[in-house]
Amino acid sequence: MADEASGNPRIEAFFAYLEAKEALPAHVIEQARAFFRVPGDLRVGQVAILMGYLKPRDVIVVIAGQVDSDLRFGELAVQMGLLTTQQVDAALATQTERCLQVFEVIRLNFRVEEATAKELIAAFPAWAAANGRSVDEASDLPSRKVDGERVRARLRMITKVSTLPIVVQRVLSMLQDPNVNLEAIGRTLQGDPPIAAQVLRLANSAVFCTRVRASTVQRALVVLGMTNVQQVVLAATLMSQFSAGTKLEVREFWFQSILVGEWARSLAEGGSRRTSPEEAFIGGLMTNLGQMVIRQVFPKDHLAIQLRVLRGSDLLTAELECLGLSHPDIGAYLAHMWRFPTSLEEAILYHHARPSALRRLKLLPATYTINAATRLGELAPGAEVVQGVTILESDFLDAHDMGRLKPLEMAPHVFAAARELALALLGDT
Ligand SMILES: [Fe+2]
Repeated sequence: MADEASGNPRIEAFFAYLEAKEALPAHVIEQARAFFRVPGDLRVGQVAILMGYLKPRDVIVVIAGQVDSDLRFGELAVQMGLLTTQQVDAALATQTERCLQVFEVIRLNFRVEEATAKELIAAFPAWAAANGRSVDEASDLPSRKVDGERVRARLRMITKVSTLPIVVQRVLSMLQDPNVNLEAIGRTLQGDPPIAAQVLRLANSAVFCTRVRASTVQRALVVLGMTNVQQVVLAATLMSQFSAGTKLEVREFWFQSILVGEWARSLAEGGSRRTSPEEAFIGGLMTNLGQMVIRQVFPKDHLAIQLRVLRGSDLLTAELECLGLSHPDIGAYLAHMWRFPTSLEEAILYHHARPSALRRLKLLPATYTINAATRLGELAPGAEVVQGVTILESDFLDAHDMGRLKPLEMAPHVFAAARELALALLGDT
């Protein structure tokens, strides 16, 4: 029972101790227990976010800075003026001590006096014993030791191989200008014939329901319309550039990504529009790009990760143990490197975060939309959707302007749109 709850005997002993002492209301303890039921991210950056010292996008800024620096995460964050040394020390202490993490979670969700928290922890027998070094706490401490140099080498490698084609970079930056005309974009796109051909193919597909066939890129852009051009160009580029694995694996990967993109677009369209549907689609499409990068750039690590997952490990934990980076880190880093809006960096970084972790953090609207889309995208059509929509707690949807949406009713349209777009982009072979 104990291990079922948190996966950590000492942390469960701490909950039992809090219950026995009636130190906190039962529902507070239950909520903290629920938080620890799913494996969490224990790195210093994530702990600093939990403690309110850093914003998620700061973590990506520091990760990006590590490409050219030999400093550890905390040292670099201090040098960048994002953390003080005291905050780094506090985050490191919380990172290595699970009881402190319990109280950080409780502090975030319910107001608990710091003195009360410290008193309770100090009186917890296993804490006292561990501080006296008389308990073997190997199972309690984070098992992974991130090798900074290894992480930096991997980040440099990702930077090197994951550059967007020059033509695409130019088109994306042209699209930032509200006065740009489609003809100029068309001329630029012709500089990359495979992407131009893909755009033409899409414009003539059922997705855009056109009666007139476009024969030139310029005409295709008119058919697509300005708001669709960015999504189409980006989707076509990512699919041609990131395609490691067998044909079936690549198709499955991109269909899944398109599905999350379509859920994100639909949630944004039906919500209060604080997130743009186009941005939501791109964010959804990119959530798992980091997984494809791992497969493509670090094939040996990819196999080691798969092996761990087959043995029952959580995917993000396996990625962190093998690489020191998770696929949300890599996807967010790419968004940062390609100068996408910070809202996309944050949304990708947090796409697997637990609702209980997101609840009290002040994040951008797109983050909540894409987090919900990720969970919906994991469901297969049919009965699984019917059962699975309950995983989207109504208070989570209400709190983030998606309360009036009905995922069950939306599902058939989302699956159909994803299938059509996948067919248009990936063909039917
Ligand atoms: Fe993911």
